[in-house]
Amino acid sequence: MAFANPSKTAPDPEFAARLLAWYDRHARSLPWRVSPSDRLNGMVADPYRVWLSEIMLQQTTVQAVKPYFASFARRWPSVNDLAAADTEDVMKAWAGLGYYSRARNLKRCADVVAADHGGRFPDTEEGLRALPGIGPYTAAAIAAIAFDRRAAVVDGNIERVFTRLFEIDTPLPSAKNEIRAAVHEVTPAERPGDFAQALMDLGATICTPKRPACVLCPLNEGCLARLSGRQEQFPVKPMKKEKPVRLGAAFVAERSDGAVLLVKRPETGLLGGMTGVPSTNWTVRADGATGARSAPFEADWRSKGVITHVFTHFELRLEIFHAVVTGAPDHEGWWSDSDSLPGEALPTVMKKALRAAFPALFRKGPA
Ligand code: ADE
Repeated sequence: MAFANPSKTAPDPEFAARLLAWYDRHARSLPWRVSPSDRLNGMVADPYRVWLSEIMLQQTTVQAVKPYFASFARRWPSVNDLAAADTEDVMKAWAGLGYYSRARNLKRCADVVAADHGGRFPDTEEGLRALPGIGPYTAAAIAAIAFDRRAAVVDGNIERVFTRLFEIDTPLPSAKNEIRAAVHEVTPAERPGDFAQALMDLGATICTPKRPACVLCPLNEGCLARLSGRQEQFPVKPMKKEKPVRLGAAFVAERSDGAVLLVKRPETGLLGGMTGVPSTNWTVRADGATGARSAPFEADWRSKGVITHVFTHFELRLEIFHAVVTGAPDHEGWWSDSDSLPGEALPTVMKKALRAAFPALFRKGPA
């Protein structure tokens, strides 16, 4: 029998039980997670680790987050340690994870929890929402996972699972309220944190965007999209708008000893406060100053080609120029040698720019 749409009728009492039984056997082992068996043995989640993982997982995959989580948890094992850290060190450790306002808010949030809450995270959605960098999704996730509050947790994976189960055909993001109502109704009072994590795992491993493994799904009998064979048609996406393209140039100045000129970007705006090589503004105008003539000082600039980087709201095409400079050009910034370069707070686009000039530089993951 199909699961009734819980926003229209009473929720199926079997829903949570089936999902949790599946989770008890198949939960992914993740470094920030208390496994179902450890929980049975009395282990409880550490809210600091749950919070840290949730901030890192915003817009970033589990695989990409794992090494960063390990290095943060090793270096700053508690929220008080992170509050005592130097913001620049935190930004450097974050470099490569993207969306740098998250790192700045991470540090601000640690400062507030340490200073105003005695180093303990608030244990309600409302209390968590009042903290920097914690929006409705993250507050619900932390409240459920760290404090076993019956909060409706809805991330992209869970949206996919629910639009398929109940054939919710409103396009995203308009469907969000409908999905949240459905999740709220079926979330159990017992083990709501495991329930949320079970849905995340189901979405990541079984109810995948392409070719979902429905035969293995604990909820397959009740899934309306499976019954009609239309799994891959959900969630319904809005019409895609093409991203605007912006153009610019970036300048990798190398000293004869191999050190590279770096600058700190302005605190406000895109990649605020992060480190980079000097660059022009990034403009939508094809006739803007984007060539070697726009270099910050005179040198024998040679083009190393164009790199592309996709930001949330635009695609950036950046022509990279390289020059070996003699003497000391009159320019703000500092010279970073090959030993210190990997530890600089360089966002991915700047690593790409440097790699265009020095192809062997940087491998993936944190330094
Ligand atoms: N994605 C976002 N939060 C997550 C979590 N706690 N576990 C697994 N995947 C996630």
